[in-house]
Amino acid sequence: ATSAAQFVPEGKDWAALRSASCACRGCELYKDAKQTVFGEGPVPAPLMMVGEQPGDREDVEGHVFVGPAGRLLDKALAAAKIARDEAYLTNAVKHFKFTERGKRRIHQQPRRSEVVACFPWLREEIRVVQPRLIVCLGAVAAKALLGSSFKLTEHRGEVLEQDGLKIGVTVHPSSVLRAENWTEAYEAFVADLKALRKAL
Ligand code: URA
Ligand code: SF4
Repeated sequence: ATSAAQFVPEGKDWAALRSASCACRGCELYKDAKQTVFGEGPVPAPLMMVGEQPGDREDVEGHVFVGPAGRLLDKALAAAKIARDEAYLTNAVKHFKFTERGKRRIHQQPRRSEVVACFPWLREEIRVVQPRLIVCLGAVAAKALLGSSFKLTEHRGEVLEQDGLKIGVTVHPSSVLRAENWTEAYEAFVADLKALRKAL
């Protein structure tokens, strides 16, 4: 299969979607990951945040943003005065993609075809969550919603309109963790979140 579409119970509620997502075989990524990590948070919610894909911790625990990137995101949301428990958090791709190096599982960026295959889940999450604002964390999420030619570096901190949805864009928290100048990267991330919050 090359799409989640045949596994998605269209029009159903969040609980039915989440439970169906556990059996998704819409692309190859279910094979090596431990489990599907579906989005979580209040339904409906004013704010939806979309990351790239679950990381190693998320794959083990089955919950979004519980690893190092999630801790950084929590801190930045608090600094921007955005309540994490009022946001629905999810990812463009629902399975962890990695390569093994010894005992470590190293994150690999999903292919465009995998993002496209997984999109029916995200589309249904948007339908049930009905967010006033969607914030894309990083280029993979931004391209999933705004098209493959979208350039994050030219638009970070901005809110765009697409198909009647308000879509804000900023970097992925993992890019802040990897940055050489951590303080500068973190402050720019918080500044983006503060600017995006105004669109709520
Ligand atoms: N990075 C993401 O994009 N999503 C997660 O859930 C965790 C790390
Ligand atoms: Fe299905 Fe998405 Fe997992 Fe691929 S990554 S198997 S499309 S849930």
